[in-house]
Amino acid sequence: MSNKTFYITTPIYYPSDKLHIGHSYTTVAADAMARFKRLTGYDVWFLTGTDEHGQKIQRSAENAGKSNQRFVDDIVDWIKELWSALDISYDDFIRTTESRHKEAVQEVFNRLYRQGDIYRGRYEGWYCTPCESFWTARQVEGGNCPDCGRPVELVAEEGYFFRMSRYADRLLEHINNNPDFIQPPSRKNEMVNNFLRPGLEDLCVSRTTFKWGVPVPFDREHVIYVWLDALSNYITALGYTREETLFHKYWPADVHLIGKEIVRFHTIYWPIFLMALGLPLPKQVFGHGWLIMKEGKMSKSRGNVIDPMILMERYGSDSIRYFLLREIPFGADGVFNNESMLQRINTDLANDLGNLLSRTVTMIERFFSGVIPAPVVGEEHSSDKELRKLALSTPSRMAELMDKLQFSSALETLWALVRRSNKYIDENAPWLLAKKEEDRKRLGTVLYNLCESLRFISVLLLPFMPRTPMRIWSQLGIDTMQHLHQWDSLEKWGLLKPGVKAQRSADLFPRLDIKRELASLLEGEDGDKKEQKASFPGGEHTPVKEEKNNMEESFSKKGNGREQGSPEKTEFISLEEFSRVDIRVGEIISAEPVPKTEKLLKLMVSLGKEERQVVAGLALYYSPGELTGKKVLFVSNLQPVKIRGLLSEGMILAASSPEGKVVLTAVDDDIPAGSKIS
Ligand code: ME8
Repeated sequence: MSNKTFYITTPIYYPSDKLHIGHSYTTVAADAMARFKRLTGYDVWFLTGTDEHGQKIQRSAENAGKSNQRFVDDIVDWIKELWSALDISYDDFIRTTESRHKEAVQEVFNRLYRQGDIYRGRYEGWYCTPCESFWTARQVEGGNCPDCGRPVELVAEEGYFFRMSRYADRLLEHINNNPDFIQPPSRKNEMVNNFLRPGLEDLCVSRTTFKWGVPVPFDREHVIYVWLDALSNYITALGYTREETLFHKYWPADVHLIGKEIVRFHTIYWPIFLMALGLPLPKQVFGHGWLIMKEGKMSKSRGNVIDPMILMERYGSDSIRYFLLREIPFGADGVFNNESMLQRINTDLANDLGNLLSRTVTMIERFFSGVIPAPVVGEEHSSDKELRKLALSTPSRMAELMDKLQFSSALETLWALVRRSNKYIDENAPWLLAKKEEDRKRLGTVLYNLCESLRFISVLLLPFMPRTPMRIWSQLGIDTMQHLHQWDSLEKWGLLKPGVKAQRSADLFPRLDIKRELASLLEGEDGDKKEQKASFPGGEHTPVKEEKNNMEESFSKKGNGREQGSPEKTEFISLEEFSRVDIRVGEIISAEPVPKTEKLLKLMVSLGKEERQVVAGLALYYSPGELTGKKVLFVSNLQPVKIRGLLSEGMILAASSPEGKVVLTAVDDDIPAGSKIS
């Protein structure tokens, strides 16, 4: 294991409601960073979790009619499913209701009290429950919270106070001496000018008006203020108060990734608590911008939150991850809208990347029977040199940008290589080289260089889109050659061995009909419809390929040669295209409802030699008992997707009546499971 360590954290989220795309944004960014560091040889610790105490959670549980613990347990299960669907590779998930955390927070409180940083007093002032934050009379504007604008409440209670002013000068000095500590720099100025320079007041660090929190160890009438409880997670998860090596190994954190609204807690309260404990400060706190909607901030009460699960079910987690990381410069606010997301998927993923792979592999199949040809050694054309140089310089340029958390620019840099590779095809026109025997060697070099460039691209994609590289490697025939998937393998051009068998399979990203998708997403806001559509994986992706008789046109056309079909019109596909759909007879061997859904069933389907799990929207039309033993038509080569956290590896064909009834297509005769339909 490497001795270069990297510790990265997300905020611990409130499980007061389901999380939305904004929470996913921070977590995906942290995951991309963690994966990038792992890829480049660091020993990474990636922490996320949930902030489960406080008045807000207690009120939400009361409204839901559940016990506090039951309420948070249910939401935490859902959050873990969300992170699994988004391929979040966290090393630890801390819950503030776990005893490992609660005990450590009590010890921290004790220590701070014993050394005189915490004293007992009486608090009278304003409190914002949604933000769980105290405000002075000077700070509340017209009775509203300066952060979220919602009404504050007047509270008067006995409490314990932390002497913030003791540490204010040291903190200011630290901020001034460490320009990277608060990023981006605009957030640093805000903290210094608005909070530190006017002087810090002592902070009330306990509450008595509700019970859902960690009790003050020596005074059970009080619970510890939720922000002292929550911020401590970054060290309690490492076993700070125990004799554990994780804390010694990973603290101080390399970066806390957070949204801009909680920069104050992380750059004033948190460093001061750490100073009081005699601990080093995190190297960086990065406060990124918000994903906002056209009409303003996303919020449940406005009804404008975007559910990442729905998007992933339709477009796959890699597409959503790509969009989040590419669209908005990290640090700035950005408007989330479905249309730009769909445009990005079509332009960057289907056209640029998908097209590059499909053109390359199709030409290798057509001109070299699928075997990756050898390049001519010692003869380099100017376009070869440009491509090679760009590929070799891309990893270090991306690493520099990643160190500054510039995800969007890092991806832009990678896409310069994707686009250069597509241009390389157009410049070298392999379809023309294929016409003359004397150009055959050159044709081999061109196609080899494209495979090598795709290999660079696929490795560099790993942190951002963890599933796509494997699909590229499998089409290039290098899925089992692990030495070609490593960061170190990008130091050298030409490591791919000629003679490997490449094989075209499904498009990486089917081109979407944007108008139709927008209409469906709008409709999908009615929750019932969402579930139904999601139950037929791939059913929304019905791109229609325009058949080209002319070889030249089919490889050289900008775009992937696809047209967007209108659903009413019959569009023709070629026999070859139809033959790529692998339909088999399947036998349903078990069926059970998917918990917490009305319409979904989890089915196991036998295809003779193998079994597949499928999630299908059949529960309103068939009982599990009726389905078991039924033979059905089954599409077996659809890209697997996750639905409600369950893998769905194919699609059962069904007819739907105009009234929306769904009927399975039956297999009349006794044909064995696995038989091919043609
Ligand atoms: O604040 N755009 O939890 P929280 C971008 N428990 N990011 C967004 C976002 C949006 N529209 N909405 C939410 C808390 N986020 C505390 C944290 S840490 C010790 C305690 C992200 O559930 C962003 O990272 O309200 C923000 O800081 C976080 O979710 C707030 O999550």
